[in-house]
Amino acid sequence: MRVEFAGRDLVSMRELSRQEIEHILNTAERTEFSGDVLKGRLMCSLFFEPSTRTRLSFETAMKRLGGEVVGFAKPGAASLSKGENLTDTIKTVSCYSDVIVLRHPREGAARLAAEVSDVPVINAGDGSNQHPTQALTDLYTIRREHGRLKVRVAMVGDLKYARTVRSLGQGLAKFGARLLLSSPPGLEMSEELCAELESMGARLEVCTSIEEAVERADVLYVTRIQKERFPDPEEYRKVQGAYRITPELLEIASSRMIVLHPLPRVDEISPEVDHTDRARYFHQVRNSIPVRMAVLSLLLGVV
Ligand code: NCD
Repeated sequence: MRVEFAGRDLVSMRELSRQEIEHILNTAERTEFSGDVLKGRLMCSLFFEPSTRTRLSFETAMKRLGGEVVGFAKPGAASLSKGENLTDTIKTVSCYSDVIVLRHPREGAARLAAEVSDVPVINAGDGSNQHPTQALTDLYTIRREHGRLKVRVAMVGDLKYARTVRSLGQGLAKFGARLLLSSPPGLEMSEELCAELESMGARLEVCTSIEEAVERADVLYVTRIQKERFPDPEEYRKVQGAYRITPELLEIASSRMIVLHPLPRVDEISPEVDHTDRARYFHQVRNSIPVRMAVLSLLLGVV
């Protein structure tokens, strides 16, 4: 079966088949499509929420392929602050760009944008819902390090609000991965998401301690507590600093275990871990470029 991406949106990991995920990762691995394949194409990046890596990495990927970039990172400067709704903004932008990259605090914003846009929409994070290109970067990094995706991934931290967890969990589920869950009280993965991931092919286990997760994992996927998603600041204070990955804690891990984090980190991974041979979070940042180059090229139909 041929995998066809041209003209499609990328809103959620749910909608990608195992074969399609492999096709994106294989495309990212190939370097021969680089060059100026996106010359004359314009990407519009609309960031309604803070971002460093995701926005700059999309812009870098587009420019590396000869394309151009317009957009904003401060929504206060856009007409939305005059009361324009998202639908009108997207309809307008889709008149003059070839692809739209959207980050928005509201769950479902990217789906709505995709429905009204004439050009492909890539979801760069919608509230606590989805972040598919981060998940593809995570999968790419895991496959490079372990050679396969049917691995044991310990998901540590905020499993309730982190969109990267949902997207990566769905991606891994399609490859039959085993997910070991470890979170502070109140930040557990929802029953709904657990059931969905199991129905998609993942095997889930809740760990009784962070040590258990570290000891049994091939990959330790650490997340930041998503402070900005808490309805009540008091609830955040209760879990703040609840876990911290240190070199001492990692001594009990298997020799091939690697540590991933979508970044930004606050204090959940101590900086000393950066100097160990387990740290792969800055590799993830580097890997995000070929992955986003592949996604842009595929949706724009040039590879
Ligand atoms: C993540 C995000 O925005 O969801 N960051 C990123 O895109 N690399 C994770 C986070 O903010 O904690």
